[in-house]
Amino acid sequence: MMMSPCNAQHYEFLATTYDQHWTHSGTFVDWMTRKIMESLALRPHHRIIDVGCGTGLYSRRIVDLVRPENCILCVDPSAAMLGRLGSTAGVRPVLASAEQLGGELPDFAPLNISPGSFDAVLVKEAIHHVAPSDRAPTVGGLGNLLAQGGRLLIVMLPTRIRYPLFTAALEMFEELQPDPEEIIGHVRRAGLLARIEYHEFALTIPKDRYLAMVRGRYMSLLSAFDEGEIEAGIREIDAIHPEQLLSFPDRFAFILGTRLAPTR
Ligand SMILES: C[S@@+](CC[C@H](N)C(=O)[O-])C[C@H]1O[C@@H](n2cnc3c(N)ncnc32)[C@H](O)[C@@H]1O
Repeated sequence: MMMSPCNAQHYEFLATTYDQHWTHSGTFVDWMTRKIMESLALRPHHRIIDVGCGTGLYSRRIVDLVRPENCILCVDPSAAMLGRLGSTAGVRPVLASAEQLGGELPDFAPLNISPGSFDAVLVKEAIHHVAPSDRAPTVGGLGNLLAQGGRLLIVMLPTRIRYPLFTAALEMFEELQPDPEEIIGHVRRAGLLARIEYHEFALTIPKDRYLAMVRGRYMSLLSAFDEGEIEAGIREIDAIHPEQLLSFPDRFAFILGTRLAPTR
């Protein structure tokens, strides 16, 4: 299944500013990249796929830090997000969804994407875009891409977040966000040895900057609110937080699946 028109529009709008939103704290992206590298135990000889890679914010750091011998396959269904990769060395853009990649693979033969051919598959903050009914086959298909000993890492937010968002946005998040426990179930059923860890980063962002991020709809769920609702939400945040610096924990579930037996 391709991306919903709503998501496609959202990421087209977000593509040019996405990296700025996340580089507000130079240390956050480095912290996250290192956690990903540790979880996947990345080594230069590993063949790596970044599914839902967006602008390649993390793949580009992995290229700098790990120096993989093979290009990282950066897969995303948004041409606008993928376009931000430009001609970055060490990455190869692939316009596709997680569902397509985890499916029957008819279109991927020229890219050498075949069962058992990867050591690391990363899905960071993209699994929520896969429809609930497609999650099990998609996770199963992504698991099948792994060689023996290969790892699938799904990084996602938990069902409750402590972001200084307005109430309606927080409620919508809780309604829509999949439960990491559901996702680890799919990883187990895919035949992988699965575990879940939570990692937390203490963020501090100047309030003006955070409000600009909300106005820029830095999270996809914010695209469900029209301009008037966003402005009302910003006033609500401003009123609840008189402080000029917003401090809050950003907590992530790291779901790791390891393929112990070869793919059949
Ligand atoms: C929140 S961004 C995360 C991007 C990147 N992984 C990161 O952490 O910076 C979500 C990304 O998922 C992509 N996406 C949306 N639907 C998808 C799908 N069905 N399969 C894979 N990726 C999808 C979007 O285009 C977007 O680039």
